[in-house]
Amino acid sequence: MIKIAPSILAADPLNLERDVRRAIDAGCDWIHVDVMDAHFVPNLAYSPDTVRRLKEICPIPIDVHLMMDNPGRLLDTFLEAGASNVTIHAEAGNVSSLLRRIHQAGAAAGVALRPGTPADEVKPYLEDADLILAMTVEPGFGGQKLDEGVVRKIRELRESGYSGEIEADGGIREDNLHMLKENGLTVAVMGTALFRNEDMKAAISRMHGIK
Ligand code: DX5
Ligand code: ZN
Repeated sequence: MIKIAPSILAADPLNLERDVRRAIDAGCDWIHVDVMDAHFVPNLAYSPDTVRRLKEICPIPIDVHLMMDNPGRLLDTFLEAGASNVTIHAEAGNVSSLLRRIHQAGAAAGVALRPGTPADEVKPYLEDADLILAMTVEPGFGGQKLDEGVVRKIRELRESGYSGEIEADGGIREDNLHMLKENGLTVAVMGTALFRNEDMKAAISRMHGIK
């Protein structure tokens, strides 16, 4: 079964608790939190305090995606706040030491790749990474169109023998999820397509059923 991780970037900032509870009640598997530093990406979003508060209402894993030039600077604070998974970008560097710190804190560690970054960049870390996040849009904003060129990279990672989670993020909708799953995807981050769906529960149930 493919895991569904709603991205709260698409939730209503004035009603974040309401929208997160709605997603949990609808049967999602993880809650995806996009952290942006206005350097690595041209946008700014979420702090460790958001994770700390979410932890109070989330019985499911909190999946933190650090789009930061220097993720090591706030890494411990996000871990102390209760992040279940922390994903750093390969392009930001220091991958091995950051993965080690995430594991030492007892969390699951992930490595993310921009659409243009080849799978080879992450291959040295496959043994230490619990998840690989293949960005299917240029990171920074929700509501963009999925880059189908990334599907080949997902297949390449799976065919390389990687047995951990492969997560995709950006532009995922119900009608392109099957293509991603058949190429090796196990976790789908979805923002706009989920939070704008009037019947999120039915949508998640259908997507859980995709063979
Ligand atoms: C973009 C973020 C994504 C984004 C997904 O940089 O990492 O998580 O919020 O939103 P949609 O599903 O609308 O593309
Ligand atoms: Zn994300």
